[in-house]
Amino acid sequence: MSDTKFTPRVFSGIQPTNHLQLGNYLGAVKRFVEMQNSGVETIYCIVDLHAITVWQDPADLTHATRELAASYIASGLDPAKSILFNQSQVAEHAQLGWIFNCVARMGWMNRMTQFKDKAGKDREKASVGLFSYPTLMAADILLYHTTHVPVGEDQKQHLELTRDIAMKFNNDFGVDFFPLTEPVIEGVATRIMSLRDGTKKMSKSDPSDMSRINMTDDADTIAKKIRKAKTDPDPLPEALEGLDDRPEARNLVNIYAALAEKPAEDVIAEFAGQQFGTFKPALAELAVEKLAPISSEMDRLMQDPAEIDRILAQGAARAREIAAPILAKTYEIIGMVR
Ligand code: TRP
Repeated sequence: MSDTKFTPRVFSGIQPTNHLQLGNYLGAVKRFVEMQNSGVETIYCIVDLHAITVWQDPADLTHATRELAASYIASGLDPAKSILFNQSQVAEHAQLGWIFNCVARMGWMNRMTQFKDKAGKDREKASVGLFSYPTLMAADILLYHTTHVPVGEDQKQHLELTRDIAMKFNNDFGVDFFPLTEPVIEGVATRIMSLRDGTKKMSKSDPSDMSRINMTDDADTIAKKIRKAKTDPDPLPEALEGLDDRPEARNLVNIYAALAEKPAEDVIAEFAGQQFGTFKPALAELAVEKLAPISSEMDRLMQDPAEIDRILAQGAARAREIAAPILAKTYEIIGMVR
């Protein structure tokens, strides 16, 4: 089903809400940087229009947008190679989003599980934006004729909707205009779980700060969180299969492996038979060694918000160069007088 007429292009988005944490870093940002360095065109978007589907304090939104940009850059994202910008600076996202509101069917939208989860019990009080969020996400992706989107497992349904929208648009107008975008889902081995519950994803919205490592945590905080991370009383096994029903232990081994950039098998080989009393300090030391340079670089970048704003504005100008002709062509296909 993969489209060959479209040149490979990667797009992904992250919401500017709360602090970036280790799970986003290892699962998303680090992958974004690897893709950037693999030679394909990469576009990374801070999705501020998505963020406001739930209430955001204006000053917090501004700060979170800059902080997210700083953390991408501090993690190795190069604004000269990748296009890095915030969504609201490229009006074409909202414009194509409207068109897709008219392509997507109510029946499709009613099946979106994320709306049900996020709206909770009181659906009457959820914003209309929270409901139509997936059509805006489809617009983010298709506005660049994106072929590949690196996302977490939880976004799979949104990618399916994006393909449905592309297919219906192409069918309705008898064109082969939008590609059928492929999700690139992160592997189970790189999925970072909560430090308090190895069956739950590490999340910036978990009420317990002890459940995650924030990219802004200092060395003492990181060490403390790892020391207090939930484990079990057994030593580390001889082989990886020994961790199959030990989600918390498996998670700490995965974190070690991801930070050390080696297979989990090698980590087990190194620590086989050792207690967590030995493993945890080793993990803490590694985490501090890898994360401290990123957080100090973030601090440095955050001293100069004007420079961050300049980078985002430049990224937006480059994004618009790709987006504007695609939107213009979309309007033309639909029959809008220009
Ligand atoms: N919905 C994504 C999330 O919550 C964020 C997002 C918005 C996104 N637009 C996107 C991700 C486009 C990938 C591509 O994580």
